[in-house]
Amino acid sequence: MIRFLTAGESHGKALVAIVEGFPSNLLLSKDYINNQLRRRQAGYGRGTRMKIESDSVQILSGMRFGKTLGSPISFLIENKDWENWKELMDNERQSQSKEKISIPRPGHADLVGITKYNFNDIRNSIERSSARETAARVAAGTVARKFLKEFDISIGSFVVSIGGLYSSKNYLDQLLENRDLSRKTGDEISDKSDRSSLRVLDQIQEKKIINKIKSVKKTGDTLGGTFIVVATGVPVGLGSFMHFDRKLDADIAFHIMSINAVKGVEIGKGFSSAEMLGSEVHDEITLKQNSFSRTSNSAGGIEGGISTGLPIIIRAVMKPISTLSKPLKSIDLKTMKGVSSRYERSDFTAVPSCAVIAESMLAWVLAKHFLIKFGGDSIEETKNNYKSFTSKYFQRLKKDFKK
Ligand SMILES: Cc1cc2nc3c(=O)[nH]c(=O)nc-3n(C[C@H](O)[C@H](O)[C@H](O)COP(=O)(O)O)c2cc1C
Repeated sequence: MIRFLTAGESHGKALVAIVEGFPSNLLLSKDYINNQLRRRQAGYGRGTRMKIESDSVQILSGMRFGKTLGSPISFLIENKDWENWKELMDNERQSQSKEKISIPRPGHADLVGITKYNFNDIRNSIERSSARETAARVAAGTVARKFLKEFDISIGSFVVSIGGLYSSKNYLDQLLENRDLSRKTGDEISDKSDRSSLRVLDQIQEKKIINKIKSVKKTGDTLGGTFIVVATGVPVGLGSFMHFDRKLDADIAFHIMSINAVKGVEIGKGFSSAEMLGSEVHDEITLKQNSFSRTSNSAGGIEGGISTGLPIIIRAVMKPISTLSKPLKSIDLKTMKGVSSRYERSDFTAVPSCAVIAESMLAWVLAKHFLIKFGGDSIEETKNNYKSFTSKYFQRLKKDFKK
């Protein structure tokens, strides 16, 4: 079983991730991780913070000569902005500045955080609830991504809508109906979306959204949106229906939902299946080149909590950013009087980045269930186990059912 922990405050000295449970001899590099960190930081609509930070990882342990050792891998990502926050974020000494944040922002962790943890400064809530932490998650998720690559499993994403503006092409239907976009690998999908500043697949849509972001920015407001994450090359058999907490769909929903500001996750046809007939939803079973196939992929690659062997298709919703320069109503806790909410440097939209974080979370869940199924202390052993299952299960079923 793999696991990871992250630590670090948004304006603290650094973020840290410790990743444990991956087999030895997996090739990994700093550059490979930094490339994913760069993708997380990009996107039209981000605030000025992303101009200050150019994330770069230091690998502190768990690797030797470019390969994993099987021991815990630890990463450190420095916060460049810490130089400006040294005093306010000192681990020990009280700051000379008496700055104390007392006005909670609606939609953020500000009010619930101070209430739950008995803080008298909202800064203490802001620092850890910030999505800055997701940089450490992407570093951890990239180990999983590299591991999955060894088995030709690739993960990609694209933005479907921002502020209610969609493409005229229905890319989700293409994926669910096994046509057009469904023929691309996860990597190919991300290669295409990464060329857009909004990570969309449609240039006309991109222009419309950029104009909307510009106009919303002027009014001091923010935008959310939807995105799709796809994993291709996933073998049949990851996850289990034997117990609720082993279900692949449940684990994916949990990990995607844990990303800041994500408020909905669906798999395959998801919510739209509520209005359809069973015959329109379920994927008929056929035979293709000595294996099973499906006429469609409405299930999004998972049935009964187990991967079917078809691409895994996840759609998620990110709400609009909570920090608005157009103030919402709040209460100043110093005076307990109604005031306008405060503004702190912020993004206007971060859906493109959220989709990259979701790629990492999906990679993590798939690597976890892959290792539960195939195990192995070294990558060579995992490969042998994988090969012996995938090359034999169809022949075995054919033989066993004849008896
Ligand atoms: C990539 C990314 C960037 C974000 N940037 C901001 C931001 O600049 N300002 C802000 O108020 N919220 C931002 N958020 C959202 C908050 O972190 C989130 O709304 C907050 O932690 C409260 O959690 P909740 O929305 O899940 O309830 C961002 C989220 C993500 C995923």
